[in-house]
Amino acid sequence: MNHFPSVLEAISDLTLDQIKGLLILSKKFKDRPIDSVIFPNNRPIVANSFLENSTRTKNSFAIAISRLGCRYLDFNAQTSSLAKGESIGETLRTLYCQGVDLCIIRSSESNMLSQFKDKPPMKLINGGDGTNQHPTQALLDLFTMLELGLDLEGKRLGIIGDCLHSRVGHSLCELLPQFGCEIELIGPKEFLPDNSPNKDVSLSESLNESLPRLDYIYSLRIQKERHADKFESSNSNLIENYHEHYGINLNLLKKHKKQIPVFHPGPVNIGVELSQDVIDSNLYKGYLQVENSIYMRMAIVASMLQNNDKSIGKFHESIITD
Ligand code: CP
Repeated sequence: MNHFPSVLEAISDLTLDQIKGLLILSKKFKDRPIDSVIFPNNRPIVANSFLENSTRTKNSFAIAISRLGCRYLDFNAQTSSLAKGESIGETLRTLYCQGVDLCIIRSSESNMLSQFKDKPPMKLINGGDGTNQHPTQALLDLFTMLELGLDLEGKRLGIIGDCLHSRVGHSLCELLPQFGCEIELIGPKEFLPDNSPNKDVSLSESLNESLPRLDYIYSLRIQKERHADKFESSNSNLIENYHEHYGINLNLLKKHKKQIPVFHPGPVNIGVELSQDVIDSNLYKGYLQVENSIYMRMAIVASMLQNNDKSIGKFHESIITD
């Protein structure tokens, strides 16, 4: 894919044509797994560097990398020299000198990859950074919605939960309006931004009021690790009351006559965002999102590795003047 970026930090790093190209390539990988090994000879090295916990993103990238015929390096951040205080920039330069071509990074620090956009030490993919963005999750969600045959043009997706801090929510708000989908961010006041991020996104504090106008539901995980203050406070009963006001269960959907698809990026706090009966029903698409994550991540890794960017790793070449 021409001019595919060497640093994918946010949805805004991709053009609409590049996004459409990724959707086509993901479908090809899913339909014809036999054609997946596109690097049989030079076998690039791709590393995962996860500075925060992960099951879905880390393992699906690892599987995607091996299906493409690349070599995989599981870079253990906790036992690396990062723990001795080495910077992420020096770490990436070191890995590049060892032959690593691309690194997927998850970090609790928002915008960590921005510093590398001008002079990438190697090709980089954001596997989720703090409260900023999780672009590959949003792209695989879009692929899943289109694969299910869902019409997005003029439809309304309710994103329910901690919309303020959700990197998945931020990426979806940038991505889905490009396909004509309107978004309603739904949650308690402390989980909503003060203002809508763009004209296609509206805000609501009432799931009961919003549900009748929704076409699709996307629940977000309550991120306890980013709200230690709220959840530890003895005055707070946000979690205890959350399901009653913002949780999705089959009774609620029946009451509103809404047999509509329910998405979630995982991991789900069962009984909080979604009830077990929703997860066990055919409305729940979370397992299909997980399955499709392999194909979208194969498409992203393949497109980036093939972008022929000659500026990669040129960190030695600053001009010394007197
Ligand atoms: N959706 C997602 O990012 O899940 P993991 O934290 O398990 O990677």
